[in-house]
Amino acid sequence: MDERKKAIGFFDSGIGGLSVLKEAIRLLPSEDFIYFGDSINAPYGTRPVDEVKELTFKAVDFLIAKGVKAIVIACNTATSAAIDDLRSKYSPMSIIGIEPAVKPAVELRKPGKILIMATPMTLAEAKFNTLLKSYESEADIVPVPCAGLAEIVEEGNLSGEVVNCYLKDKLAPFINEPISSVVLGCTHYPFVKGEIVSILKEDITIIDGSLGTAKQLKRKLASSRLLNEAAHKGTVTIINSLNSEDILKLSYKLLT
Ligand code: DGL
Repeated sequence: MDERKKAIGFFDSGIGGLSVLKEAIRLLPSEDFIYFGDSINAPYGTRPVDEVKELTFKAVDFLIAKGVKAIVIACNTATSAAIDDLRSKYSPMSIIGIEPAVKPAVELRKPGKILIMATPMTLAEAKFNTLLKSYESEADIVPVPCAGLAEIVEEGNLSGEVVNCYLKDKLAPFINEPISSVVLGCTHYPFVKGEIVSILKEDITIIDGSLGTAKQLKRKLASSRLLNEAAHKGTVTIINSLNSEDILKLSYKLLT
């Protein structure tokens, strides 16, 4: 088979990575995508690192068995736990990860705090802390661990009381503070962006890494001459370890 015609694999602990897939579809409309969400084992963000690593390797093996040409780890938590090991095991396959978009937030050079909302694991891991160190003299960066928020999204609560109460409580310490921007460091969170905006200020800058990750995927495919340049529209296949109609329905809805 022509390598360029193979699908691109996407992986997340659940439905969050669909926020990244959505950008990738817009950027690479001719490509076929296979998305695997491990909702039965979600959330990953409050698990021990070794467990997340093991689950991520299993998911990547699953996607490789489907014959994909590249893989996007559309999960900040799984990226922090496993990206280096994945790249050394599966080289030369392109494996693209995602991490909290701290650099673009700092480069805004806006006064106030930069809030980094992410899972407890992402914020505790070395990858994020190295990133934090390299920017801490330039900006006031505040990690905001959001245990429980990915579960709320997994349950389909994208607006309304449950998510509103959670976010009001989480963001209460910052309501009267000057905020430079909010970085969404978990791929589940862009789905509740509207609620975050309504709690903070209307003109708040929210940054997430979805578009940057999709662009990096495109660059990688181009440099390894794997871009599918067919004129037709590609396909999207979603698989979820929960194997329920509801989760698949919600997943396809999130892509629209
Ligand atoms: N979507 C994942 C991320 O980007 C994490 C959600 C979870 O805790 O499973 O970090």
